[in-house]
Amino acid sequence: MAKLINIKIEGHPYQVEEGLTILEAARKCGYEIPSLCTFNKGECSLASCRVCLVEATGARGLVASCVYPVNEGMEITISSPKATAARRASVELLLSNHSKDCQQCDKNGKCELLYVAQLTGARDNKFVGAKTETTLDQVTPSIVRDTSKCILCGRCVARCVAAHGTGILGFENRGFNTIVAPAGNRSFAESPCLLCGQCVNVCPTGALMEKSEIDKLDAAKAQGKFVVVQTAPAVRAALGEEFGLPVGTPVTGKMVAALKRLGFNRVYDTNFGADLTIMEEATELLNRIKNKGTLPMITSCSPGWINYAEYYYPEQLGHLSSCKSPHQMQGAIIKSYFAQQNNLDPKDIFVVSIMPCTAKKFEKERPQMEKDGIKDVDCVLTTRELAKLIKRSGINFTKLPDEEYDQDIMGAYTGAAVIFGATGGVMEAALRTAYFALTGKESKPIEFKAVRGMEGLKEADIDIAGTVVKVAVASGMRNAKVLLDQIKEGKSPYTFIEIMCCPGGCVNGGGQPYIKKVFMPNEDDDIYETYREKRAQALYSEDERQAIRQSHNNPQIKELYAKFLGEPNSHLAHELLHTTYAGRVRFPEQKHVLK
Ligand code: FES
Repeated sequence: MAKLINIKIEGHPYQVEEGLTILEAARKCGYEIPSLCTFNKGECSLASCRVCLVEATGARGLVASCVYPVNEGMEITISSPKATAARRASVELLLSNHSKDCQQCDKNGKCELLYVAQLTGARDNKFVGAKTETTLDQVTPSIVRDTSKCILCGRCVARCVAAHGTGILGFENRGFNTIVAPAGNRSFAESPCLLCGQCVNVCPTGALMEKSEIDKLDAAKAQGKFVVVQTAPAVRAALGEEFGLPVGTPVTGKMVAALKRLGFNRVYDTNFGADLTIMEEATELLNRIKNKGTLPMITSCSPGWINYAEYYYPEQLGHLSSCKSPHQMQGAIIKSYFAQQNNLDPKDIFVVSIMPCTAKKFEKERPQMEKDGIKDVDCVLTTRELAKLIKRSGINFTKLPDEEYDQDIMGAYTGAAVIFGATGGVMEAALRTAYFALTGKESKPIEFKAVRGMEGLKEADIDIAGTVVKVAVASGMRNAKVLLDQIKEGKSPYTFIEIMCCPGGCVNGGGQPYIKKVFMPNEDDDIYETYREKRAQALYSEDERQAIRQSHNNPQIKELYAKFLGEPNSHLAHELLHTTYAGRVRFPEQKHVLK
């Protein structure tokens, strides 16, 4: 345990751990100092925004509390006229170069700059003058970058490096002309960006946002389309946060009730698609092992990871499973089998996927994700967009009863599918089915806990009836790179690898509710460290509650194969449920010149 030291804040004595910054110590003692550029302990500490200035004995002048450490006997003053005026001036300076179109801004209600302006009493337009020339990039289907709202805090730059090591975003130009952008102020579409949205998750303003598709959904409803919605596993583990529920509260039943009130013609769980993915993927793996195909095989559910593989490791695309991701598989089945069973023309069906992910918006636009000109999925909304839809419709989410997904055709799902949303979940679900396929028996225990946990890189030796299968799980491309470099050097000891783009898996996807303490004042101090675990735990507890916990035992999946697909990896299954990949140029010739 760290040594305790004595400090005073606002004249009151406290004992705190040595090594904390003033900001951390003050939070632990019950004070809220405004902050903007700092985020997630140690991830970003440029100390650029200066909204956290305080007085501290032993320091010359005011200090940035987010980086200045406490020391024995230090006396800290937050409320002196000098400190409060300086913090207010810092916010006013930031606002002087801001677009201030708050009413039109999608981040309204979640904007940390506005919150800090309120905290510091920054109300006047004191610093009026020239503004930095701005850029609006809305070329990709996933992310919008609007530098008129950027405060140059550097959180996005730090997150991209910490999660993936790719460093897509950086500071371009100098001095007054500085902006945050991909190299050369290119569009995300013409940079090797994964579109994962981790940068969006940490942006304190509306400078980085998902590209909203709510209007698309409204238009489809207005045209009288038959609208089918499906929800990814990780959404239920986080949606409640948007309505003030504690992190990790599973809200499956309330979410379904809300979707039914929003007027969708069918409400399904992408878990059905996840069970289908396991049937296809486990069969593909066993075939590769039997036929000495390319190993290790790597999962293909995460579209950010697919983008990374196509940009950075094109020579290894043969290692990727050819399976589409669960929501694309489900979309393909809705537009074929479901349409057939319900006498619907696939052209009249509009499939909406609620996803924890911004890269899924891009994935659904890939040319490989359609058949005969009909897309598998027409619209992807993030968890945050779903919350907006619910709020817009006047639904009191926390008062809703729990309701069930529609049960026809694709209403059944298993515990194996639910855990897809956490890192290691796809691996565990596949192992449950692979074990059965190889031995004819269910694994005991059902769980493969060796692949659970939030570490970025995990490996395990799985004993299947005397045969040891070496597997690895990585989340965040920094960790994936380690495994891919092993393959490149011919040193990979693994048979099967799961890779998820976002650190911690989909529970921490780029479309999930924002994690920022200022919006969750009742949460524990350790929120940054534990929110991924808490959301993942919500999924593991739903798995435990399921009567059926292995994908191969899903009765409606069995029926789908019996009546329509034939068997896993059949010709029709390949036509509808499998895909292809292609290497991509990282910096192609620029079509979109952004100013
Ligand atoms: Fe301390 Fe920005 S939060 S300088």
